[in-house]
Amino acid sequence: MSVQAIRRDYSLSGGNQDAVALDGDRITDRVQEQWWKPKLSRQQMREIMQRRDGPGLWHFGLWFLLLGVSAYLAAISWGTWWAIPAFLVYGTIYTSADSRWHESGHGTPFRTRWLNEAVYAIASFIAIREAYLWRWSHSRHHTHTYFVGRDPEIQVQRPADLVKLLMDFFYLRSGPPEVWRLVRNAFGHPNKEVLDFVPERDLPKMYWSSRVHLAIYAAFAVWSIAIGSFLPMMFVLLPRFYGGWLQQLLSLPQHAGLGEDTFDHRQNTRTIYVNPVFAFLYVNMQYHLEHHAMPMTPFHALPKLHEAVKDQMPPPYTSLWQAYKELIPALIKQATGDPDYRVLRPIPKDPESEAAELPTAAESPGEWVRVGPVEDIEAEDVVRLDFGSRTLAIYHLKGGHFYATDGLCTHEYAYLADGLVIDGVIECPLHNGRFDIATGRALRAPACDHLDTYPVERRGNTLYVRLG
Ligand code: FES
Repeated sequence: MSVQAIRRDYSLSGGNQDAVALDGDRITDRVQEQWWKPKLSRQQMREIMQRRDGPGLWHFGLWFLLLGVSAYLAAISWGTWWAIPAFLVYGTIYTSADSRWHESGHGTPFRTRWLNEAVYAIASFIAIREAYLWRWSHSRHHTHTYFVGRDPEIQVQRPADLVKLLMDFFYLRSGPPEVWRLVRNAFGHPNKEVLDFVPERDLPKMYWSSRVHLAIYAAFAVWSIAIGSFLPMMFVLLPRFYGGWLQQLLSLPQHAGLGEDTFDHRQNTRTIYVNPVFAFLYVNMQYHLEHHAMPMTPFHALPKLHEAVKDQMPPPYTSLWQAYKELIPALIKQATGDPDYRVLRPIPKDPESEAAELPTAAESPGEWVRVGPVEDIEAEDVVRLDFGSRTLAIYHLKGGHFYATDGLCTHEYAYLADGLVIDGVIECPLHNGRFDIATGRALRAPACDHLDTYPVERRGNTLYVRLG
């Protein structure tokens, strides 16, 4: 007897709205604290999170070169049978812009900020992921990975729609709605879902950015019509469709068939070993579990993170084939008789860890309070200071300068002391928002509101901070 599959409500206005406490659109409960985190020393984390320009320049430079060469070969093969493999290669490289969009959206591939932003703007256009909308969407995905009704990026909803998944090997099911969403946003009429996660202040920017995307697509369409050939469109927009197979092959097993509504990425995300060509095109996102556990890790450091934490993770899949051997039956079960079915991953026992000793201070607003010895904060690092119900972040910058700011990010609930100090800037560990440490100024979305700062004084070998 077949069982009627009951569709869960994945809309952002339904589903699991009780999962979090909201103040407007800001999450005020301790979501980040609830997620399982790998046990690593602060020293290890700092080394892994470190930013450099070299690997990003090499990797992204090679990618742009391959894109250009494959475009040239495709162009000269037009009108011959060679055009089929040539455009397939070009389209596959073109669509792998999606992984470049993702990586630069996290702001991690380069140390130099404008390089991240430049790559993000270009890759967003190529991948049909309008920059503002998808930055906010992806922030939500990381806060509430696979929480039904909170995560706007649940690729496989239960019961699984197998036809949709197959069509998306050529972006045929998700692509047209994405283009339609771009059109709506360009005309200033976003749908309810978009309004749920893009804050009002970014709507005008999203509208303008959508118009620029659309104008470029339209120019290529007009060019195609004018010359009576769809060749120009074969280089822009269409490649995302005809070249989409590899992106779908690699991204589908990221989360599909695993758990929903769990605060442990080990139950909802996979790490899969792939060959070096796929790893290059996918920007190392095969280490997807590590990426979710520590989103501040640059792509080139993911293998190192994997080595450091693999004893704490379920075993990685040794090949895409191994992952699909598990995934396909799971999705068929979900689609046919058992919509609640999910794969359970074996979770190793967490290593014993000593609770980190956090400096604390008595609450006495307006008073100078003792933080601790200067040598407790390494250069270019940050520590957390709790007092009463409040938390500060105390920073030690180059040249022996010390600063203090609020310890919680102004975007959502994340401890800045778990983040990374780079050139006088603190980067939030949850969505890579950034703040100027000396002034508290928000520098990078999704962090938009500034931090409060507090005076710090060094007396002999001891630091003091004045509470506001
Ligand atoms: S919590 Fe989102 S940027 Fe900090």
